[in-house]
Amino acid sequence: MTVLVTGGNAGIGYFVAEQLAEAGAEVVLGSRDAAKAEVALRVLRERVPGVRASWARLDLADLASVKGIEVGELDAVVLNAGVYLEGPERRETKDGHEMTFGVNHLGHFALTAALQDRLKPGARIVTMGSFAAKSAKLDFDDLQSKRDYHPKTAYERSKLAQTLFALELDRRLRASGSSLLSVVAHPGGALDSLTPDRPPLHVRSRKLILARIALQGKDGGARPAVRAAAGPDVHSGQIWGPRVFGLKGKPRPEPVRGPYADPEAAARAWAASVELTGVEPVFS
Ligand SMILES: NC(=O)c1ccc[n+]([C@@H]2O[C@H](COP(=O)([O-])OP(=O)(O)OC[C@H]3O[C@@H](n4cnc5c(N)ncnc54)[C@H](OP(=O)(O)O)[C@@H]3O)[C@@H](O)[C@H]2O)c1
Repeated sequence: MTVLVTGGNAGIGYFVAEQLAEAGAEVVLGSRDAAKAEVALRVLRERVPGVRASWARLDLADLASVKGIEVGELDAVVLNAGVYLEGPERRETKDGHEMTFGVNHLGHFALTAALQDRLKPGARIVTMGSFAAKSAKLDFDDLQSKRDYHPKTAYERSKLAQTLFALELDRRLRASGSSLLSVVAHPGGALDSLTPDRPPLHVRSRKLILARIALQGKDGGARPAVRAAAGPDVHSGQIWGPRVFGLKGKPRPEPVRGPYADPEAAARAWAASVELTGVEPVFS
């Protein structure tokens, strides 16, 4: 199988690619940075001798780059890349969208549309959510946080928008009789300080061994997405997350409830995303 992993040049995305490669998949790393992508490929080839791996240029903060992505036929795509900005200043993508919402949600929405004719029958579209989305509520009067910008709120809302997108996509796929699957995965709490070294891609500056009681490394955080992309007993419309309090451990399906079980909000967010990106993922 061939899998595109956005943000596959670092963090959880790298480990998603490594674990899929270990299972025999061909992997394509979606990356905005050629040098970082080349380092990740070098590390991947050392870890998994004989791996079939390449990278595709993809800047999710630039819809022209997203729409122009060059990839072959895919069995799965993992919509993993993401930003969590820290400073108080509101930033925008090349297209003038608030950066967190633009990269995490709108970029992946447009990418899904761009992959329309490249997903093979039965292909899986895996969207990376977050436990942070559980406490979010979308503000349809201010999706771009123009009135009121807080990085944490913008992040939580972007992850809720992504999750609602994936669940709405599932409903649309089923309604159109498509064989594709749309699945949500979330990594729990995945820290760099608990992540095994992959020099020179990742070397721990400090080791927080005690945090391992509640959280995991980015290798552990990759497992739900790997399961959703390539594992058995995966169904469209599911959410996969780590077993232990949704924070660490083996992947398992979670109930779809709370803000996720809101088809009305999902349909509204979908319509707004079509308007903002100028494209719509349609599969039959
Ligand atoms: N870590 C956690 O505990 C946690 C918890 C819940 C959810 N998540 C989600 O899991 C995903 C991965 O998180 P992570 O911890 O692995 O983050 P990370 O280490 O910061 O990696 C983020 C990846 O996204 C890429 N990226 C950022 N902006 C991009 C853009 N404009 N275009 C293309 N790629 C871009 C980065 O590329 P560059 O290297 O070029 O910056 C990098 O490859 C994210 O969606 C995040 O929201 C993480």
